Amino acid sequence: MRVLSGIQPTGRPHWGNYFGAIRQYIDLQENNDGFYFIADLHALTTVRDPAQLRENVLNAALDLLALGLDPNKATLFVQSRIPEVTELTWLLLTGTPMGLLERCHAYKDKKERGLPADAGLFTYPVLMAADILAYDSQIVPVGADQVQHIEVCRDLAGSFHHTYGETFVMPKAKTLDVGAKVPGTDGQKMSKSYDNTLPLFGDVKKIRKQIMRIVTDSRPMEDPKDPEGDHLFELYQLFAGPDEVAAMVEKYRAGGFGYGEIKKAVAEVSEAHFAPARERREELEKDLDSVRDILDAGAVRAREVAGAVLDRARSACGVR
Ligand code: TYM
Repeated sequence: MRVLSGIQPTGRPHWGNYFGAIRQYIDLQENNDGFYFIADLHALTTVRDPAQLRENVLNAALDLLALGLDPNKATLFVQSRIPEVTELTWLLLTGTPMGLLERCHAYKDKKERGLPADAGLFTYPVLMAADILAYDSQIVPVGADQVQHIEVCRDLAGSFHHTYGETFVMPKAKTLDVGAKVPGTDGQKMSKSYDNTLPLFGDVKKIRKQIMRIVTDSRPMEDPKDPEGDHLFELYQLFAGPDEVAAMVEKYRAGGFGYGEIKKAVAEVSEAHFAPARERREELEKDLDSVRDILDAGAVRAREVAGAVLDRARSACGVR
């Protein structure tokens, strides 16, 4: 199966990115043809500093490789290196109803909060549709917040087909039961734009402090507590095995247990979980040229595939 997904290089990746999406990339690279990319063109809607953007792109590549993405099994590349995708975006845009994009949440949220939104943000889902369709993608592993965008992609492919005939492979979103919507330190969805993220890499002590500051309710220590719907418990579940989770449920229900204890447990399990990736990242940082070579090779492979799909789309709509 052709599996494709992308991540924006807008800052350091967080637990939500990993548990919702990146760990799926790594699992799925084993028995599929995985295409994974760093969405720098999408990041232009928020990152406006060129040096910062370049640095973020390289960092994102290091992060993905350190977490286990294997360039011998999957294709890793940078979105902007594939100009076929931007041309395909135009072909799709000419058939995209305004109303469809007006309903998309990234644009809607910004508008509702009274923030200035540009045409890049408005048409963001069409570039994303082109990303997906350009590689004949069948499966798109993502967190829950991207499912709407994949539905838009399916709609756009459907209307293109209606106008010009069958051209694209119809993709499907793939989300996990646990991890599709990881909560942040305030209990809302973990997101770079809410400033409530816990990073995968970075200073362990600083991350531990952030964990200790996770917002909880103010029930007294002796009260029994309900793990259901508790975001600290939800975070713990991402890392712990079934026995540890069952033991934690007991502690919650028995009472006499404070949130400080589960915070410490979350810090410990998360540090242990990401320790090997941290070490791999330090190794990879010593040889950035190899990382650049991986991205170059990925772009060559990605362009081959996207070029053939773009040719199909061009001839379908008569621009060649
Ligand atoms: P981005 O960079 O915001 O996020 C990357 C991936 O992380 C997932 N994610 C989460 N999953 C669970 N819980 C959370 N709190 C959480 N926060 C983020 C996202 O769902 C995503 O899978 N538009 C995309 C990038 C993109 C793309 C594509 C993805 C561009 N083109 C084509 C798939 C296919 C984005 O902004 O992801």
